[in-house]
Amino acid sequence: MTTQKATNVTWHEGEISREDRQRILRQRGATIWFTGLSGSGKSTIAVALEQALFKLGKLSYRLDGDNVRLGINKNLGFSEEDRKENIRRIGEVAKLFGDAGVISLSSFISPYKADRDEVRALHDATSLGFIEVHVDCSLAEAERRDPKGLYKKARAGEIKNFTGIDDPYEAPDQPEIHLHTDQMSLEDEVQIILDYLIEKGYVVQNHRSRAEDGEQTINAEIA
Ligand SMILES: Nc1ncnc2c1ncn2[C@@H]1O[C@H](COP(=O)(O)OP(=O)(O)OP(=O)(O)O)[C@@H](O)[C@H]1O
Ligand SMILES: [Mg+2]
Repeated sequence: MTTQKATNVTWHEGEISREDRQRILRQRGATIWFTGLSGSGKSTIAVALEQALFKLGKLSYRLDGDNVRLGINKNLGFSEEDRKENIRRIGEVAKLFGDAGVISLSSFISPYKADRDEVRALHDATSLGFIEVHVDCSLAEAERRDPKGLYKKARAGEIKNFTGIDDPYEAPDQPEIHLHTDQMSLEDEVQIILDYLIEKGYVVQNHRSRAEDGEQTINAEIA
């Protein structure tokens, strides 16, 4: 765990709670954490899931490896230490989104189990849903796809510390969802995640309107 550096800092509580925000949004905030090799399909699935959730009237927001490295984490590289800090910061950002009531879709290789578990602990500590999705694809297939030409560069020695080539990938032991993207269709993958979100009550389908039912039902829906 990262230690607290600043002293004399105190959490300042607001008057509007996460539950209040969730009631407006008619959904529960959560983090869907996609982990897997480069080219396994994390970003592709997140983009498709975002569309599917949008059609259901649910608010999600994608946090994606390269996008984040171009912004909040532009000062970080790919050493083990920097990868760790990359994931820690994203975990904190995802937690903020979740607390806002948003379903964040986080797509990062996130190769180290300990780093992912730290993000999970962060969510657990504040009772926010953390749904780890193992985007599982054989190295051979990911390398065949090579959507960004990165494996080719890594094999040629132009990229160092590349996960699967000269850096390890630690697969999750018990992910909430395990997708074999070298054997399944994108549509099926999205449906599996949607079914999970509905079954666990993060997303409620076909809810009746606020005007019909009043606050009571809405509270029950997101409880
Ligand atoms: N069943 C599938 N699910 C997801 N992607 C698939 C599937 N079949 C083929 N693909 C293709 O595999 C590629 C996955 O690339 P994508 O950029 O989503 O990977 P990524 O895991 O986000 O990689 P990176 O870590 O480098 O960002 C895409 O070109 C996508 O079209
Ligand atoms: Mg990606």
